[in-house]
Amino acid sequence: KTASGVQAARAVSWPPSIHGPVAELTVVVPTYAERDNIAELVRRLTSILAGIDWEVVFVDDDSPDGTSALAKSIASTDPHIRCIRRVGRRGLSGACIEGILSSSAPVVAVMDADLQHDETLLPQMLQAIHGGADLVVASRYVAGGSAEQGFSGLRRWGSGLATGMARILTGTQVSDPMSGFFMIRREAIEEHAEALAKEGYKLLLDILWTTGKSLKIMELAYRFRERRSGESKLDARVTIDYLGLLFSKLLGGVLPVRFLMFGAVGLSGVGVHLLVLGYALSTLRLSFEWSQLTAVIAAMTWNFILNNQLTYRDARLSGWRFVGGLMMFYLACSIGSIGNVGVASWIYSYHATAWVAGLAGAIIGAVFNYAVSSALIWKR
Ligand code: GDD
Ligand code: MN
Repeated sequence: KTASGVQAARAVSWPPSIHGPVAELTVVVPTYAERDNIAELVRRLTSILAGIDWEVVFVDDDSPDGTSALAKSIASTDPHIRCIRRVGRRGLSGACIEGILSSSAPVVAVMDADLQHDETLLPQMLQAIHGGADLVVASRYVAGGSAEQGFSGLRRWGSGLATGMARILTGTQVSDPMSGFFMIRREAIEEHAEALAKEGYKLLLDILWTTGKSLKIMELAYRFRERRSGESKLDARVTIDYLGLLFSKLLGGVLPVRFLMFGAVGLSGVGVHLLVLGYALSTLRLSFEWSQLTAVIAAMTWNFILNNQLTYRDARLSGWRFVGGLMMFYLACSIGSIGNVGVASWIYSYHATAWVAGLAGAIIGAVFNYAVSSALIWKR
């Protein structure tokens, strides 16, 4: 090959001819350990979306099974595919929002990678958007839809209960506000990106809550299929997350879900404290001082473990970092309780009732512990 031959080749291939028009539809697919599903999903999207300018964005939270590496290798030969690899972060809603915000298409869809969502619905959903809808929800619960295959009896019951509560609380008419499969005009998200909770699993519910009143919404029925490969990542903790989201919203969204969770863990720690105190006094027959000290350490340890499992599970500590974090947590709690007693005594000195002073002290202590925990112990 001559030098001019190489240059000619470059001249032809730049700008790359594969860059067609900007996508009209971005399909956002959050993934965690979906290596065995994504190639099949791409195949199905390619066939059902032929004739549409589409792209798919996999948003992968650095899955240990190498999902993102596979997605990128498929992307290297197919311009319809992109992949965002997020490192050191976990979370379904956050991943979806990040994928949506990475798009410049007017319309975005969100769907799961495990082929439980019926991709053949996508063209109809897009049609509905072109027909004037702002948001199209693929629903398991309108006539023609179904959920039975993918769900165990218990989960179906829980899902029904949660759906009912969500509908009452948000006042939404949507039959399946917990659906993980929907399509929306991108501006509707862009405008509210900051308000949408980045924690938790219920992005659609949050969208309905935040923007619902202003959107023209349509629902289309689909059958929720069996997961093709791998297993569900949503477990009992999802319910806890969900309750956190509801509470946070009911309180006007001022308190972050994480703080509420931290507070709930703290309350459970009070229970542990009292149990251990009683046990140490009556069964171990320790003095009150030693019993109280034992109870304090037990409650702090309990709180630390629960916070590590739940409140900060996206930044979970293990090994030596767990031990270091625990020590730091003991220290933070100690300083927090000095602040607690100081503030309570100060307020009490203004002739406030004891319980008001006590509560104020407890809140100060909790806020301090939360701040240290979020900023120093479980850094994200
Ligand atoms: N990036 C990222 N990060 N993706 C995640 C994470 C995460 O922390 N957790 C789960 N995912 C991905 C999964 O890889 C999958 O593609 C999708 O999110 C849904 O997770 P599943 O574990 O399959 O959830 P499910 O089948 O139990 O529940 C789904 O369907 C329900 C009905 O539509 C979810 O979409 C629910 O939100 C939905 O209610
Ligand atoms: Mn699934």
